Amino acid sequence: MQCTSCGSAIPAGARFCPSCAHPVALSQPEERRIVTIVFADLVGFTTLAERMDPEQVKRLIDACFERLVDVVVEFGGKVDKILGDGMLVLFGAPVAHEDDPERAVRAALRMQETLAHYVATSELAGSADIRMRVGINTGEVLVGTLAGTDYTAMGDVVNTASRLQAEAPAGGVLVGEVTHGLTSHTFRYEPAGTLQPRGREQALQAWLALEPTAPPGNRRRRRRDLGIVGRRPELTIAEAALELVRHSGRGVLLHVNGDNGVGKSRYVDEVISRVREHGEASVLEGACVPYGEANVWWPIASALSNYLDLDTGIDIDAARSTALQRAQEMFPSIDAAGTERLVDVFTHLLGYPSPIDRLDALSARNAIHQTVAMVLEARSHRGPMVLSIDDVHWADQVLLDLLEHLVTALSRHSFLLITAMRPGHDVAWPPRSDRGTVLSITLQPLTRLDIEELATALLGDAPATSNC
Ligand SMILES: Nc1ncnc2c1ncn2[C@@H]1O[C@H](COP(=O)(O)OP(=O)(O)OP(=O)(O)O)[C@@H](O)[C@H]1O
Ligand SMILES: [Mg+2]
Repeated sequence: MQCTSCGSAIPAGARFCPSCAHPVALSQPEERRIVTIVFADLVGFTTLAERMDPEQVKRLIDACFERLVDVVVEFGGKVDKILGDGMLVLFGAPVAHEDDPERAVRAALRMQETLAHYVATSELAGSADIRMRVGINTGEVLVGTLAGTDYTAMGDVVNTASRLQAEAPAGGVLVGEVTHGLTSHTFRYEPAGTLQPRGREQALQAWLALEPTAPPGNRRRRRRDLGIVGRRPELTIAEAALELVRHSGRGVLLHVNGDNGVGKSRYVDEVISRVREHGEASVLEGACVPYGEANVWWPIASALSNYLDLDTGIDIDAARSTALQRAQEMFPSIDAAGTERLVDVFTHLLGYPSPIDRLDALSARNAIHQTVAMVLEARSHRGPMVLSIDDVHWADQVLLDLLEHLVTALSRHSFLLITAMRPGHDVAWPPRSDRGTVLSITLQPLTRLDIEELATALLGDAPATSNC
């Protein structure tokens, strides 16, 4: 092996180059990986350079990139290179995630927003039209410390991403066919015509990414239409939990644990549809997201806003007036101060500035805990109140504290909290509670027979062919 820094021969097993002390661990062997490449190029600085000192232009470009790099890191990508006005980013290497193409497109859209916000609020405001073109492409590349360089990616996929970037409109994000195919369930796209990359026979279809249609971590829509396969014993446990909630007026936490893709969310869907079938119940559903969400309360906020019919995209005045209306409908006899507190907490959870921001941490926590418990409790008198929070392995500790509070505060109410979580994460959940009833089950993979049944259902009437 050769040192990637000075080219000297490195003995097997060495951790540092004996000639220049460059750490060997940093050099990674070449390997083929499926990677999503993001090419971003700033436009508008050339005209600025005619009017400004080069140092000043460089300082502004650096300030833009600093913000863009933060976005890349937040979404789990790696900045491979920054060259002049351009940036090459990898999603899927050296660290791979289950949803790298989706992360790449989300990051690109957020980068556009970040840049637009920076340009509008910095000294560039009004004096320059700085925008960015982004091209994204997914496919197999060769990654590693190629020819003694720093870790990078090589391959046709990289060239096509660069071509997409060149064709993208200023301020736009153009993606190739593979990226589009892997992410079309999560973003709204507009066809953007075909490209004819140099040296290629076939033209490529390009798509302009417009906006996300689902939060991060939202897997492809589960096939509820197919009916659940197997899980009879596990559903019996859920029925028992429901019995406690419905007939004994107990608060129960039903915690579902299991490996990625084992069927946790599908199982929870089934439990919820059984709750609904059994008569009047209020159901609030939220899910934690893996990245890209600054509001730690988002899972409960989204569940409450759907339930209370609060639109999350409106301005703060509209949000406060809708929240006030909902608070008055829910608690007609509460005094003005109580209503005000409800409105403050609702808007705070939704991420708007509110007087809760000015409270000390303990008072803010108490206000949120009490208000959420009060809302859930009020509805639990009419029938079971069900709160389901999926993907708790991505939850922030403040959310877990709230959920734990609900388990104890609503232990004598008709309340079912359902949580689902993957193992292997450093998350202290489920809580040990002496007051609330906690049922925790770990889903095992479906049996062979169940899998055959599922495959047959998915393939329609086609008979299962395997006999091994
Ligand atoms: N018992 C089942 N019957 C029918 N389909 C199932 C069953 N279990 C899982 N599936 C299907 O398998 C896929 C993966 O299941 P699901 O999304 O529920 O897994 P998960 O454990 O929640 O995964 P993740 O860890 O990614 O959240 C989905 O399409 C789901 O509809
Ligand atoms: Mg799931």
